[in-house]
Amino acid sequence: MSALPLLLALLAQSPDLVLADFEGADYGAWTAQGSAFGRGPARGTLPKQQAVSGFEGGGLVDTFLGGDAAQGTLTSPEFTLERRFVNFLLGGGDHPGETCVELVVGDEVVRSSTGGDDERLEWESWDVAELAGRRARIRIADRSSGGWGHVDVDSISLSDTRRAAPLVLAPLYAETWRPQFHFSSRTNWLNDPNGLVFLDGEYHLFFQHNPRGREWGNMSWGHAVSPDLVHWTQLDDALEPDALGTIYSGSAVVVGSRIAALYTAAGTPFTQCLAYSMDRGRTFTKFAKNPVLPHVAGENRDPKLVWHSQSARWVMALYLEGETYALFASTDLESWSELERFEMPGCSECPDFFEMPVEGESGERRWVFTAANGQYLVGRFDGRHFAHEGAPQRVEFGRNCYAVQSWSNLPASDGRRIQIGWMNGGRYPHMPFNQQMSLPCELRLVRGGDALHLEKSPVRELERLRARTTRFDAIEVAGRAELGSRAELLDLELEIEPRKASEVALRVRGESVRWSAANATLECLGASAPLGLEDGRLRLRVLVDRTSIEVYGNGGRVVQSSCCLLRGDAPLALEVLGGTARVRAVVHELEPAWKR
Ligand code: FRU
Repeated sequence: MSALPLLLALLAQSPDLVLADFEGADYGAWTAQGSAFGRGPARGTLPKQQAVSGFEGGGLVDTFLGGDAAQGTLTSPEFTLERRFVNFLLGGGDHPGETCVELVVGDEVVRSSTGGDDERLEWESWDVAELAGRRARIRIADRSSGGWGHVDVDSISLSDTRRAAPLVLAPLYAETWRPQFHFSSRTNWLNDPNGLVFLDGEYHLFFQHNPRGREWGNMSWGHAVSPDLVHWTQLDDALEPDALGTIYSGSAVVVGSRIAALYTAAGTPFTQCLAYSMDRGRTFTKFAKNPVLPHVAGENRDPKLVWHSQSARWVMALYLEGETYALFASTDLESWSELERFEMPGCSECPDFFEMPVEGESGERRWVFTAANGQYLVGRFDGRHFAHEGAPQRVEFGRNCYAVQSWSNLPASDGRRIQIGWMNGGRYPHMPFNQQMSLPCELRLVRGGDALHLEKSPVRELERLRARTTRFDAIEVAGRAELGSRAELLDLELEIEPRKASEVALRVRGESVRWSAANATLECLGASAPLGLEDGRLRLRVLVDRTSIEVYGNGGRVVQSSCCLLRGDAPLALEVLGGTARVRAVVHELEPAWKR
């Protein structure tokens, strides 16, 4: 815009009209009903509440008064809609119509907005152009007593300028909180990865899917395929509930040219059932004599299949109950006999069981047994007994990684063991889908001292998304150094010699990945992991998507997979405290994986 029209546009704008800033000791002319509002605005976070942020000044409306149970409404005096927008700051529960701010004209609610299950207040803007000149009231309502049954509100004004970034709901895969290089379901809820199998150039990702809602329920197997583990195409659901129950987690293998899927039918009781596909997973026929394994114990579930070549039998790892898992064997997938049971302290659900070479030790192979939380046992397996020692080990230390499973049937020429998990518990406010998968990762079994342990790093195919690369060779950083990128999607490789520095932090889009020398720990998004120096160096690989950060420390010896809503475009930077660190950094900006 050239100077004159800009000036005219500015002159045409009237100043904002503040309806409420909630800075006073009481609500003034607003009317409170119920018990949720108390006598006046809150002064920041209330007792037992997660930290509230993003409000202006010292006061705000916060209906977490005494906890989530309290309900009520707070209604403004009538005013005239004499600007194009109503702007306000909103946080709290994501319960449409229950924890909300409403615009009421006469008796009619003409606008309503809810928070995103977040104590950080964000701008919300209503365009009220078509209501210009009408009399209206604002009503802040808390009609919910369950989890996130509260609302946070501040700074309500009428303005000619929109404050909120508009929520993007289309096109598909470009929505505001759509992960850009992690798999998420086109719509609705997703949890565990299931039936991971490679066949005829296609990686199959079946997954726990609710075809009818954004919360867990109606469990079915969703289905997506990819030529490269990076670009996914979602197909129709593959397995739907039947008389034996809803379709819980399980696995798949290739038998001849068929995919055989073994899953839990979550009826009363839970049993293990088989289905075959003759058309590359597009349709399945359930085995007529299901279940193939009747109820064994508790809520037994999540069968994982593996071929044991020495005994020429299929082996099924199954979760039983408590911390107990069992192994079964079969020659035909249809009749099974129990081999043994064992405990895995601190673990439950979603077993996986596979053989791997020990890196750098020719001919040495071991069996690895993983639980839903990614913890694992390493041992030898003779087709009958899994001989393992010691407590479960840990490679994953983040907030959001669960139900890990690995692909079967990769060609021997590939030889990789590739694992993916569900990033359980992320938030996707106002989106048509809910939850996402982790990045597919390659596992390596490595000897460190006496023990064998897993290392985990993103599959190399992810490098196909690298669109622009900047290298920083051996820079000396004391204090703060920017790394020249404000990109949203990043793949970072860092090699840091902290020398005498007490702390080194990567600042990425307002969040930080922080290593502290004193206790040799890595912190990211509230999770911490032990991470020491190797040869005086710290190696970090950091993958940043719109809704997650995954950090791989020292070649993937420790991993932190965590979800968060990454807002803003603060520049990528390093911060070094208490010394000068030598840093080598490679910054790859990524392109989205979804083809649009
Ligand atoms: C793990 C889990 C599994 C079960 C599935 C149901 O997240 O609880 O044990 O099969 O989810 O959706």
